[in-house]
Parts: sequence; C-alpha cells; structure tokens
Amino acid sequence: MTPPDTSEIPQGAAIVQVALPTGLDEQAQMGKRAFEAVCADCHGANAAGKNGVAPPLVHKTYEPGHHGDYAFLAAVRNGVRSHHWDFGDMPPVTGLTDADVTNIVAYVRALQRENGID
Ligand code: HEC
Repeated sequence: MTPPDTSEIPQGAAIVQVALPTGLDEQAQMGKRAFEAVCADCHGANAAGKNGVAPPLVHKTYEPGHHGDYAFLAAVRNGVRSHHWDFGDMPPVTGLTDADVTNIVAYVRALQRENGID
C-alpha cells in the first residue's frame, strides 16, 4: 500500500486534529497516563501522530475492525515493521504489563470514538 502523503506537514508536527472527549473513564485515564509516559514521544500528544516519527493512532487505519486490540499488544511486545507509513519501524516497548496495554487501548478507543472512528 502507498503510505499517506504527509509531505505538506512540518517534521515532528501533529498529523491529524484530534477532538478530545469531555471525560474519560477510570481505565482510559490510566491508559492516558501510560500513553503519555511511553507512546506520546513518537505517536504525539493525544495520539495525533508526529510527522516523520510515528503515525496518528486516531486514524481510520487503526479503527477497531482493522486493528483490533490484539494489534496493540503485538505492537508493544514485538514492535512493528514499517508497512503503513514511511516512518521506519516501531521498536518493541518494554516495561508494560498486559493490563497497562489494555488501559492504553481503552484510551485510544475513547479518542477514536470522539473522532468518529469506530
Ligand atoms: C520509537 C517510536 C515509537 C514508540 C515509542 C511507539 N511507537 Fe507505535 N509505531 C511507531 C511507528 C513508526 C509505527 C508505524 C509502523 C508502520 O509503518 O506501519 C507504529 C505503529 C503502531 C501501531 C500499529 C501497529 C500495526 O499493526 O500496524 C500501534 C497499535 C502502535 N504503534 C501502538 C503503540 C503504543 C501503544 C505505544 C506505547 C506503548 C507505541 N506504539 C510506542 C513508532 C513508535
């Protein structure tokens, strides 16, 4: 597949606009904290992506029907070979339990729902 064209976006800038939900349940709040600690450096604040670094997870590519919850666990455990974007590989992320990843998924799904991706 041809990676989406992000050449008009400055290096390191957000790739999508993310509307924020008014509230997050407890699980999603825990996921937000973990996401900000370990994923946001690459995937950007609010999972909006960072051009040239990592894609937005609030994106139709990652809707639940295309990338189920297991895809998140596999990405964290095994890393990801670059295939949808032109940003290189994602290395495995260590130090997270399965429960941490489940919380992160709850957070990302809440953001996705708010942005019409479900
Ligand atoms: C060092 C940068 C980096 C970090 C840190 C990182 N990612 Fe990624 N991630 C990437 C890149 C780059 C891709 C895109 C690979 C591609 O081209 O499809 C990606 C892709 C993904 C995908 C899509 C997997 C698939 O099957 O296509 C998921 C889900 C994901 N990341 C979740 C996470 C989560 C959750 C965290 C934090 C625990 C995280 N990432 C931390 C760089 C990173």
